[in-house]
Amino acid sequence: MIISPPLKVYFNFILQSVLPEIFSQTADIPRKVPLFLAPMEEITNYACRNISRKFGADVVYSEFINSDALIRNCKKAYSKLIFYAHERPFGIQIYGQDLHSMTEAAKIAASYNPDLIDINAGCWVKKISHRGAGAGLLRNIQHFQEIVSSICRSVSVPVTVKTRLGWDENNINIIEVSKILQDCGVQAITVHCRTRSQKMAGTPQWQWIEKIKSAGIFVPIIINGGILSIQDAKNVIRNTPADGLMIARGAIGNPWLFQEIKCFLSNLPFSTISLSEKAACALEHFILHIQNISETKAVYSFRKFLSSYISGFPNVSVHRTELMQLKTKSEIIHLLTALIERK
Ligand SMILES: Cc1cc2nc3c(=O)[nH]c(=O)nc-3n(C[C@H](O)[C@H](O)[C@H](O)COP(=O)(O)O)c2cc1C
Repeated sequence: MIISPPLKVYFNFILQSVLPEIFSQTADIPRKVPLFLAPMEEITNYACRNISRKFGADVVYSEFINSDALIRNCKKAYSKLIFYAHERPFGIQIYGQDLHSMTEAAKIAASYNPDLIDINAGCWVKKISHRGAGAGLLRNIQHFQEIVSSICRSVSVPVTVKTRLGWDENNINIIEVSKILQDCGVQAITVHCRTRSQKMAGTPQWQWIEKIKSAGIFVPIIINGGILSIQDAKNVIRNTPADGLMIARGAIGNPWLFQEIKCFLSNLPFSTISLSEKAACALEHFILHIQNISETKAVYSFRKFLSSYISGFPNVSVHRTELMQLKTKSEIIHLLTALIERK
């Protein structure tokens, strides 16, 4: 199969217009590496995406969206399709196991004109994977192929897939799957370098990226899984041929990770973020987070970010307990303002 023009356009777009500063090669850095904020349910909403973009994420995604819910016109599912021009390049991720529902959902997603549609073939959660969606697609490759190929034929935006190494250690099929996906016409593949049975823990097997590339896969391969620190990022940049890095948990309450990686890629020094700057960023994030949702929901759902933002603070456990008990938006703003002012 010949590389399709949209693939080149898409990646050249990211590399040339979004990442000019890493276009020049250095001795230390052999490649240009776009940075992706991973899709995360209940995390990668508008606020999180925007804070991550501000600190260097090149591509952001929606939370995953259930294809059945989309075709049933579920309001919540539709709300996840919404993004703004300044968030581009933006990917909408869908999941499901039914051919018709996935194809129709992809068409609905395409009508929102994202930069790409990503198919989730990596979710480990039992109620999803055991019904054949998410990582469950890896257990029925023919059906997986039919879904991906149907979507690729039905939409004109680039289609990508985010998947895992395989169902379990005895059934690692990422090379076979990558070949099939490439033949279906996907424009990039994200590989969470764990099996479904490893869930979110266990050592990520980054060495599989080299094996996939050596097997002749030419679509860009984005590495994901276990890139939680600058050291992890340096390791994968130096030791794997990945075309892009996707970060999930490492970016929650720590969007500077993108900036730190960018500095490394550009051979620029990275100055440590002060606690006051962290608190200021948490406040900025919270102000974005509380837009368009009820106060109770906003305060409760921001706790997971707050907990990460304040790690590294002196007396962190005291602050954490204090922050987790806050019930109103003004209490959160007050406390974060006090932390900003505490030099
Ligand atoms: C809270 C949470 C929600 C997630 N939701 C999604 C999702 O909607 N779609 C998806 O493809 N992966 C989802 N993931 C998996 C991540 O995208 C990523 O593959 C995984 O966390 C491994 O990357 P990491 O080691 O950088 O965290 C989620 C992970 C977390 C922690």
